[in-house]
Amino acid sequence: MASKVLTYILLFYFHLYMIHAHQFKSIDKIPSPLKFLNQLSGVQKGDNVKGVSDLKKYLSYLGYLNYNINSNDQRPENNDIFNNSLELALRKYQKFYNLNITGTLDANTMAKMQEPRCGMPDFYNPNKSAVFPFHMISHFSFFPGHPKWRKRKLKYAFNRNMKEELKPPLEHALREWASATPFQFSRVSNLSQADIRISFFRGHHGDEQPFGSEDTGLAHTFAPPDGRVHFDAAQKWSSRGEKDAYDLQTVGLHELGHALGLGHTRIKKAIMFPIVNEGERKGLHDDDIKGIKALYKF
Ligand SMILES: *[C@@H]1O[C@H](CO)[C@@H](O)[C@H](O)[C@H]1NC(C)=O
Ligand SMILES: *[C@@H]1O[C@H](CO)[C@@H](O)[C@H](O)[C@H]1NC(C)=O
Ligand SMILES: *[C@@H]1O[C@H](CO)[C@@H](O)[C@H](O)[C@H]1NC(C)=O
Ligand SMILES: *[C@@H]1O[C@H](CO)[C@@H](O)[C@H](O)[C@H]1NC(C)=O
Ligand SMILES: [Zn+2]
Repeated sequence: MASKVLTYILLFYFHLYMIHAHQFKSIDKIPSPLKFLNQLSGVQKGDNVKGVSDLKKYLSYLGYLNYNINSNDQRPENNDIFNNSLELALRKYQKFYNLNITGTLDANTMAKMQEPRCGMPDFYNPNKSAVFPFHMISHFSFFPGHPKWRKRKLKYAFNRNMKEELKPPLEHALREWASATPFQFSRVSNLSQADIRISFFRGHHGDEQPFGSEDTGLAHTFAPPDGRVHFDAAQKWSSRGEKDAYDLQTVGLHELGHALGLGHTRIKKAIMFPIVNEGERKGLHDDDIKGIKALYKF
């Protein structure tokens, strides 16, 4: 068990390192289109176009491509070539998101990439020579090594300066998970005594996964037993389903799913699907329940 946890931590830091190495430009308004996509409309295998290397980094971060940023072959003229590996990665992405599997950067694929998404990868890269989905038993998935909580009574806390109105939707999400699982959640005031630690941050906040750049998403969560759940404070959050804001209970339910050990799913209606739109409200889906049951065997 200890070695599995360690492996996971190393992998996770490998991913954090990769994000760090991306050097995407920060932007004021998020989410915004991935800027490199603008120059890539219609590219296909064999093309050599500036921006393809950014597409490779993006798909690599999400776990679709085993792109080694540290490889010896750093020559930009090679990195911007749309090669076989990129075609396979695009096919895998298109399959996950139920797009037509064309292997090219077609309009629907570009549109999908521009939708706001969770900042966590869809697949985890267990080592540098292979990419495979973390265990897909059905459609739901887990983190590599299946890290999970040993106890069922979990303490949670909100970061000190969190706005009061942000707390009820998240507590509602906790109750929703509690009603579907053996978990019980109780609130404590001291963050360092909590298992699940919920914070809102802007930009850099000490975990090498800064908010506010193009590919970092709305929120991210560390797998059990870490329990950190981070939301981007610069987003517009809502608890009443306003059309121009993200529903905090919905995104909270998703991130808390990660905090309990669930990964992403391909089922669009499930809470663990990685993309969410403004105004969209969702609850737990059968796929989410099957996933948590399979992980904790209840
Ligand atoms: C595609 O290009 C990347 C570098 O951009 C390289 O790491 C990878 O090995 C190449 N794949 C193939 C099949 O040539
Ligand atoms: C798939 O391709 C068909 C035919 O070109 C098109 O009508 C449809 O909108 C595409 N669907 C998606 C999800 O891309
Ligand atoms: C790493 O990848 C290789 C090649 O696919 C595979 O055989 C090996 O089991 C992987 N190692 C781990 C630790 O998953
Ligand atoms: C919070 O808990 C930590 C660890 O138990 C302790 O060291 C610290 O003093 C506590 N802080 C407050 C404000 O109670
Ligand atoms: Zn997610």
